[in-house]
Amino acid sequence: MKASLCTQYGPPEVIEIHDIPKPTPKSDQILVKIIASTLNSGDVRVRGLQVDGWMKIMMRLVIGWNKPRKPILGVTYAGIIEAMGQDVKSYEIGDQVFGLTAFKFGCHAEYIAVSEKSMILQMPKEANFDEAAAILFGGQTAICFLHKMGIQNKNKAKVLILGATGSVGTSAIQIAKYYGANVTAVCSAPNKDLCLLLGADHVKPYDQEDITMLPERYDIILDAVGKYNHKQFKKLLTQNGIFKTVGGMEYASESIDQLELLSKIFTEGTLKPVIDKIFTLADIVEAHRYVDTGRKKGNVVVSMEG
Ligand SMILES: NC(=O)c1ccc[n+]([C@@H]2O[C@H](COP(=O)([O-])OP(=O)(O)OC[C@H]3O[C@@H](n4cnc5c(N)ncnc54)[C@H](OP(=O)(O)O)[C@@H]3O)[C@@H](O)[C@H]2O)c1
Repeated sequence: MKASLCTQYGPPEVIEIHDIPKPTPKSDQILVKIIASTLNSGDVRVRGLQVDGWMKIMMRLVIGWNKPRKPILGVTYAGIIEAMGQDVKSYEIGDQVFGLTAFKFGCHAEYIAVSEKSMILQMPKEANFDEAAAILFGGQTAICFLHKMGIQNKNKAKVLILGATGSVGTSAIQIAKYYGANVTAVCSAPNKDLCLLLGADHVKPYDQEDITMLPERYDIILDAVGKYNHKQFKKLLTQNGIFKTVGGMEYASESIDQLELLSKIFTEGTLKPVIDKIFTLADIVEAHRYVDTGRKKGNVVVSMEG
């Protein structure tokens, strides 16, 4: 099968397409023919070892000293079950499934073998493969952070989303709206219409006004881009208001409940994945260059077809 391998840490050109053996599913595993994956901020961060100072040492210890121990990047997949081990009970060959692999990576390839008990679910029936792949990364992260901030228990929360046009941000707007929040989105001026289209009640362009001086107060402030800190926004919080950033040491842990919620709100029409560009696996180096800009809108899909 064809797979994209990260041969060392570095620029997009360290990514190479290789022919490697197709995985054989173990007794509890499912072999998925991947139709679509996404290339996320997390993938390019790993490829480029894009962290500051001592975090570089931490990252090398965790994911590999000279190059990633798991050279096939990519944490999302949507595809069709082609084979499975004898102990798999909940799925059938031909099922359309989608899932997250988190630190196991492995999705920028034509096939992946995953455990039946991993973060895998039947695809929402109304979704195509690109859409199913595109709701996972930002959607799961947004749900995890917004839930940690208690959005599910707040009535008509006032929510400020910083970095509202990335993969996490576009999902966070829609998930906050699902919970009945009044959402203010912060983005660059050219992206205002996108935020309004996704349901934001107000949009504040960070390149035209000082967003740390906004007159309103918020119950939840989510930095969905990882460029801000609590100190900057303390005065914008209500008395019990809470600030969190995706850019700190806090990680979004996955659960099957999050996938079920994503599937549900996609099916209801409340969550529309934003797909900026679609690249083929053969063009994945170009995709890395694009995601490296840090200016993508929503998601970049990697298609295994074509
Ligand atoms: N902690 C975790 O578990 C976790 C999980 C997932 C992701 N993350 C982190 O979350 C961050 C966002 O991920 P992502 O995939 O959503 O990124 P992304 O899609 O690459 O985000 C790009 C967006 O960021 C916006 N942006 C850039 N600079 C900005 C600024 N100063 N203020 C506001 N918006 C700005 C850009 O919008 P404009 O063009 O409008 O500026 C662009 O649309 C990454 O740093 C990633 O590593 C953390």
